[in-house]
Amino acid sequence: MNKPKRYTITSALPYTNGPIHIGHLAGVYVPADIYARFLRLTGNDVVFIGGSDEHGVPITIKAKNEGVSPQDVVDKYHAIIKKSFEEFGISFDNYSRTSAKIHHKTASEFFKTLYDKGEFIEETSEQLYDAQANQFLADRFVTGTCPKCGNEEAYGDQCEKCGTSLNAMDLINPKSALTGNVPTLKETKHWYLPLDRHEDFLKEWILEGHKKDWKPNVYGQVKSWIDDGLRPRAVTRDLDWGIPVPVKGGEGKVLYVWFDAPIGYISSTKEWAARVGKDWEPYWKSEDTKLVHFIGKDNIVFHCIIFPVMLKREGSYILPENVPANEFLNLEGNKLSTSKNWAVWLPDYLLEFPNQQDVLRYALTANAPETKDNDFTWKDFQARNNNELVAIFGNFINRVVVLTNKYYSGVVPKPNDLSSVDEETLAAVKAYPDVIASSIERYRFREAQQELMNLARLGNKYLADEEPWKVFKVDEERTKTIMYVALQIASSLATLSEPFLPFTSAKLKGILGLRHNEEQSDVVISSNKQIATTHKDESSNDALGWNDISTKNIILPSGHQIGDAELLFSKIEDDTIQFQLDKLEASKKANASTSSAQPPQPQKEEITFDDFTKLDIRVGTILEAEKMPKAKKLLVLKVDTGIDVRTIVSGIAESFTPKEIIGKRVTVLVNLAPRELRGVVSQGMILMTENAEGKLVFVNPDDANVPNGLHIS
Ligand code: 2FM
Ligand code: ZN
Repeated sequence: MNKPKRYTITSALPYTNGPIHIGHLAGVYVPADIYARFLRLTGNDVVFIGGSDEHGVPITIKAKNEGVSPQDVVDKYHAIIKKSFEEFGISFDNYSRTSAKIHHKTASEFFKTLYDKGEFIEETSEQLYDAQANQFLADRFVTGTCPKCGNEEAYGDQCEKCGTSLNAMDLINPKSALTGNVPTLKETKHWYLPLDRHEDFLKEWILEGHKKDWKPNVYGQVKSWIDDGLRPRAVTRDLDWGIPVPVKGGEGKVLYVWFDAPIGYISSTKEWAARVGKDWEPYWKSEDTKLVHFIGKDNIVFHCIIFPVMLKREGSYILPENVPANEFLNLEGNKLSTSKNWAVWLPDYLLEFPNQQDVLRYALTANAPETKDNDFTWKDFQARNNNELVAIFGNFINRVVVLTNKYYSGVVPKPNDLSSVDEETLAAVKAYPDVIASSIERYRFREAQQELMNLARLGNKYLADEEPWKVFKVDEERTKTIMYVALQIASSLATLSEPFLPFTSAKLKGILGLRHNEEQSDVVISSNKQIATTHKDESSNDALGWNDISTKNIILPSGHQIGDAELLFSKIEDDTIQFQLDKLEASKKANASTSSAQPPQPQKEEITFDDFTKLDIRVGTILEAEKMPKAKKLLVLKVDTGIDVRTIVSGIAESFTPKEIIGKRVTVLVNLAPRELRGVVSQGMILMTENAEGKLVFVNPDDANVPNGLHIS
């Protein structure tokens, strides 16, 4: 076992423009949490950092689309995301946000230090501009064709298909994401980080220094960018949402979100240190500290090239020891997509699978995209639960606890002489902490979790071979030894499962009357605590550490009282899985109709409830319809509104013949002020929308051809 060390573990700060989904959890937060929990259990000094990334274009776009301010957007999603992390047991020591004062100050000072050291190039040049939106187009404000791989939906700062980091001016056929317009060019001044000047440093540090210990997918990407040659990268933007550029000439400009976001790890550490009365600096500046960034593959360039150059040139910081980026998780064969609602959102999951966080954590780790993109399927999720968690782990524990209660009223029996099978079994148990640790230390979390499950398998096999339920009838003394050995395995599982299945581990420790180590995190999930304290037995032994399983002769001593049996996992039925598949099918249908339609128009300005109640909308029936002479688009209708029969002139003649709508039931806004159209007074409005081909249709949201988000008019 290695000597205890100081670790700073960071996990990508999610953009606060939507809730988080299983892809985020699988790629970044569950592996980071396993790592942090494991290191704490093995006695290391760990700070595990998280926070919300609240600047950047995705948030501005979301705010524009919803007709609210960026602050409203980040406040809403920061709260939702933070809650999801807590609910899923992601044991951050601190969860901050980049809109926090301490972050603005830290990022500003960082920029200023680099500026004062002459680390930036200041340059005025022509940049893409959308005159209609009055906006320079960088980052996600502009899309176009990637010059490297031909992806037609590359963004102004990055192509998500090939991972290439781009400048907006690199895009072929750029198009404004705000208006769809072809951009013009306009001059503006920015500060650039000349990455090209730091190629030698990067080559030596990564290409020579980390060839062996970085994951091949990470090393390979970084190598290919360095080999292609690096270029200066703008670190400021013409935006009004972000951290103001703190130097002369920077008025009206903000720091590029990817300049400030990784500094957010430092700010969050400072916030944590102030709260717990520690010094933050050793966690970022001491060569004894191991800095590890957990991220998804689209963030590699920022964490392996840009941020390290910033840290290095600032001069007082350490560099990451490793950046174990994961590939992407797909869902049922398709790319996870927020805009297409092709995702399993964490808040939804918890509503549909209450208290089953560990099942998702388990399934995601079992299938983690560690070396290649992987697929999450609901059938696999069900199988992992039913065939592994229920049938192996849960079954073993249940048999041990039930039999101990039945034979010994829950008191751990005194063993007699150990058989060679008992000795081999206990020796095999003692080997597991090192085996699992070795996988975790190499960031192989799937493999580590498989080993944990092998320990449960070992327990099941031991019981199946020794058959205490049969032996009890003929040899009570031998049964005591068997149950004693089985209880040692159960206690080992309670401890070694903690990084992977924290809720189950806490519950199991409660059942076995083991102390739960509650010092591990300042932001431990409340339900976890509750489980742990419900069963707390003050007279029991100290909390078991990871290494105790190998080094202690006795893990659960004879005479120790355990609690009643409780099921750790329960079977997931086919109809539960079918419900999830049906939900995805519905998203697919909605997407099929949306994909050919125009992007939804931004939400209109907010109205009050009083405004809404002013609208008088009724169900009516079209009694008569005829074409308005000399008007291509208009039909003159007689509509029975239930109050009266009235004339309504409607612009639907290009979509319907008079004959086909007579007798049609429609929704009518009846208190719209009358209007004269070509000499006919129209007394209301029929509510219409468009289908995927742009044809007008009557409002009927059940019509699968009507995409979500279309205006009713
Ligand atoms: O890709 C993302 O969601 C980014 N918000 C990640 C930022 S990581 C860090 F640098 F803050
Ligand atoms: Zn590309």
